[in-house]
Amino acid sequence: MQQQSYQIETNRYAKCVEVSKRIRWDIDTDLIRGRQIDFGHKFLPDGLSLIHELDFLSGEEQRLLSQIQGRSYANIFGLVERFINAKVLEVSRDHWLGDQTALEALIRFSDEELKHQEMFRRVERMIGDGQPEGYRFLPDPNEVALAVLSKSTWAVLALTCHIELFTQAHYKQSIAPDPELSDLFKDIFLYHWREESQHAILDELEWGREHARLSEVERDQAVDDLIDLVAAVDGIVQLQSGADAEYFVRICGRSLDEGQVQRLRDVLLKAYRWQYIVSGVQEPRFSALLGELTTEAQRERIGKALAPILQ
Ligand SMILES: [Fe+2]
Ligand SMILES: [Fe+2]
Repeated sequence: MQQQSYQIETNRYAKCVEVSKRIRWDIDTDLIRGRQIDFGHKFLPDGLSLIHELDFLSGEEQRLLSQIQGRSYANIFGLVERFINAKVLEVSRDHWLGDQTALEALIRFSDEELKHQEMFRRVERMIGDGQPEGYRFLPDPNEVALAVLSKSTWAVLALTCHIELFTQAHYKQSIAPDPELSDLFKDIFLYHWREESQHAILDELEWGREHARLSEVERDQAVDDLIDLVAAVDGIVQLQSGADAEYFVRICGRSLDEGQVQRLRDVLLKAYRWQYIVSGVQEPRFSALLGELTTEAQRERIGKALAPILQ
């Protein structure tokens, strides 16, 4: 028998179900509404793309780079939602014959992530239609999912919670307040954010539930798994930032000198680490949760592993 002293917080799951039903949206009739992505505007805001650090680029070139980054940003979300959805379905098993409200909340979560993946495939096609040939999105969603899902559930839920919290922070702090972005690109992340708000609460509940089930030794092993997962995310970030730098150099319409190309590669890596790792680690709600579910020695281990990425 597993340790079962954990009390399911039905009211918090119920709130997620209620909000999920109320804000439910459709990709075509609510979000896209026959619109096209406007290439006259930036896609990713400066607060995420860090393009202002590349002062040798013209305004038009900076806009192009924000659009390439926006394309990869949408693709990365589509990619992580593959493993997130599989894990949500897996943990929902514990509620099959138990709390039916918790089960409903997780089924809606899964349904929404399937819709989001379809939405991000549509975004890739729309942006692909407007950008020159040669863009490559290198990580494979199923390969990444298989690697991630081989780690402990505690670690996968921690990573998922981190992602779904930074999704909200990105929208509120950078995307919403930027008046220079394409309206449709902005709306994609507005609609996404509305559903992700419930996901982050459910991640927190399921992560806590899993934590209660584990022994001290299993928790300690799970921290190592989380460190491995962050390293894997960093590997993806290095791969894709390199591919996007190369694509930009090829299509920007002039030749950059060696120093400029290196600077471009460095800033893209810094921007992607900021987007997918650092901004989430610094999110107060995530650090508070991690603080509750880890010991000081474990946090020190995580801090040491993160140090080279946070520089
Ligand atoms: Fe999503
Ligand atoms: Fe989500």
